[in-house]
Amino acid sequence: MVLARVTPMQRVIMKTFVHVLCLLPLAWLFYLAWQEQTLGNGALGADPIATIEHELGIWALRFLLIALAVTPLKQLTGVSEILRYRRLLGLYAFAYASFHFAAFLFLDLKSYWSQIVEEIIKRPYITVGFAAWVILLLLAITSTRGWQRRLAKRWTYLHRAVYAAAILAVLHFWWLVKSDIREPLLYAIIAAALLGWRLWRRARTNAVRKQSIRSPAEKSTHKLR
Ligand code: HEM
Repeated sequence: MVLARVTPMQRVIMKTFVHVLCLLPLAWLFYLAWQEQTLGNGALGADPIATIEHELGIWALRFLLIALAVTPLKQLTGVSEILRYRRLLGLYAFAYASFHFAAFLFLDLKSYWSQIVEEIIKRPYITVGFAAWVILLLLAITSTRGWQRRLAKRWTYLHRAVYAAAILAVLHFWWLVKSDIREPLLYAIIAAALLGWRLWRRARTNAVRKQSIRSPAEKSTHKLR
């Protein structure tokens, strides 16, 4: 697909638009919390802390999957401009996951912070959630151009861990759901499709590469004959 060149001004507008979209769920949550505080109208439901944790966790997972969908979307459409938003979306996934973690620490555990280690060890769904967050933290720290340059080829290998983070996040969600698994199942299917696409593309690229290495050799044996 051929697109007209994007001007720097258009890019700034697009980036601002993406920031606004990404901040909307957080703004909505603040609005509900404000309503709950001032009007006491139960805007956050029967269990406000669970609602806050739920919304932040679910948006962290959504942004993570949206960030993972950027490359396949570019490959399908040929629009490389969208690659510029991949890092931004990944950082929003990390930000929401960190707010989610903070909500767990400040609202759920309150001042019993010493319990966190016990929680991570004792409850498997917290263990995998924490592992996903640590991976996202590492990826966020090393997402800058400086780290990209410093790590060179290793940067690409490290950033493949984003798939591990997505799998762990889905597992975390799946594990804590008691009966109705439809929602985590949907996210699991999306994550599996994105990973499957990636593996299929890699296998295809490797096959083409092998073929092109073999071809000159085959040509030279034909010449010898
Ligand atoms: C330090 C790491 C984490 C901790 C301690 C943690 C803790 C929790 C807790 C306690 C819940 C249950 C909330 C409830 O009462 O319903 C939850 C739900 C959830 N978390 Fe995490 N989480 C962590 C990391 C993550 C990460 C990295 C993601 C995604 C990228 C994530 C996504 C979710 C999702 C989707 C839910 C389900 C929401 C729901 O239906 O309630 N969590 N988490």
